[in-house]
Amino acid sequence: MNIMNVDYSTKIPNNVNLAEDRQVLKALEGWHPGYIDWWHDMGPDGFQQSLVYLRTAYSVDPRGWAKFDYVKMPDYRWGILLAPQEENRKIPFGEHYGEPAWQEVPGEYRAMLRRLIVIQGDTEPASVEQQRHLGKTAPSLYDLRNLFQVNVEEGRHLWAMVYLLQKYFGRDGREEADELLRRRSGDEDSPRMLGAFNEKTPDWLSFFMFTYFTDRDGKMQLHSLAQSGFDPLSRTCRFMLTEEAHHMFVGETGITRVVQRTCDAMKDAGITDPTDIAKVRALGVIDLPTIQKKLNLHYSLSLDLFGSEVSTNAANAFNAGIKGRFHETQIDDDHQLQNATYPVLKLIDGEARRVDEPALTALNMRLRDDYSQDCVKGMLRWNKVISTTGYDYKLTLPNVAFNRAIGEFKDVHATPDGLLIDDATWNKRKGEWIPSAEDGEFIASLMTPVTEPGQFAAWISPPKVGIDNKPGDFEYVKIET
Ligand SMILES: [Fe+2]
Ligand SMILES: [Fe+2]
Repeated sequence: MNIMNVDYSTKIPNNVNLAEDRQVLKALEGWHPGYIDWWHDMGPDGFQQSLVYLRTAYSVDPRGWAKFDYVKMPDYRWGILLAPQEENRKIPFGEHYGEPAWQEVPGEYRAMLRRLIVIQGDTEPASVEQQRHLGKTAPSLYDLRNLFQVNVEEGRHLWAMVYLLQKYFGRDGREEADELLRRRSGDEDSPRMLGAFNEKTPDWLSFFMFTYFTDRDGKMQLHSLAQSGFDPLSRTCRFMLTEEAHHMFVGETGITRVVQRTCDAMKDAGITDPTDIAKVRALGVIDLPTIQKKLNLHYSLSLDLFGSEVSTNAANAFNAGIKGRFHETQIDDDHQLQNATYPVLKLIDGEARRVDEPALTALNMRLRDDYSQDCVKGMLRWNKVISTTGYDYKLTLPNVAFNRAIGEFKDVHATPDGLLIDDATWNKRKGEWIPSAEDGEFIASLMTPVTEPGQFAAWISPPKVGIDNKPGDFEYVKIET
């Protein structure tokens, strides 16, 4: 079998030769009905009989790996796709630096590996659950299709992690795979594992913020796991990153289009002050200060996903050769970090200061710094839209001390500028910085669905180009009547 192409002859499309791996095929086929039940219970609410113009991975060749066609979501071919094996790949960091990459799980790191795979796996269905109500209020068929594309691919990412669990972790792996279908986002008794994945995604602005900021955390995690000395994990993550890029595209362009529409509407109405919230809202668009508040919320929630700034778990995973750094192989150092240091932001005498810590325990901080840098790019684009329309207003990332539940700053309150404040001030003023109930109600009031091909809700601009180069009035979703 050509590793580039995917075998569609088994029930589960794959490029891992499942047809000859009977035991794993059987385990996956046994898991499949539970997955489909989960999809019906917790996947997109409605639209299951609609034909959606989706891309499906049919190859892992970077030059052309997806086919676009109309598919009913439950018929989507969720497959197991690993990037091609690199010949003679070596472990690129840690104590085993330079040794051949592992094709089987090293016994001593089994528990650590399983845990990392389960945590990654848990985020994938969680976001589908968080987004399940959004189909009903989509601002266009184009956006509706993008939502569903993200959803089916997160489903596939769950498959990717479940494959690893079932193939390499025996009985415990099968149990974990079942647990992944049992936990539910926001559930009191069995929530998803990470905070941001138990939050609500109540409206489309939240969805765009989520795909921009939280899927980008996913990107960083996948990048560091793509460096793993455990080769099957590395190959899985490398292919997932190909799909993940679209999710962040949806977020970045989504926010761009919201900002564009707001600025255009303000200009047409002759509004000169973008912070005149009442006037802007009267136009039926989302004012820039409210967009900033949503951004503050989603960025701070996403920072929490990186864990504590100083972490022995992170050091252990690196030493073991299990989880590397962002772009590990492109970094010019010894890849072992035994004597290296890294500046970590800490709370000292009431202010945030950088203090050198051993680089090994500071790996979460480093990945988070890489993430923050990556986040800035979209910000520049959004601010360009604002300044080009002639407004003097800048969207900014809030300070790392702002609204944190994990790490150095979890016990203090801070303004978006990083000024520490007491509880009373926080409680009095937090509505200025994170969306209030009233902001939520206003945004919700705009969320009326638009289902005519080529039409868009009044609070968002049309995209510059269609998906798969389709024209503006293309019917991305054929909604059943
Ligand atoms: Fe994903
Ligand atoms: Fe994603």
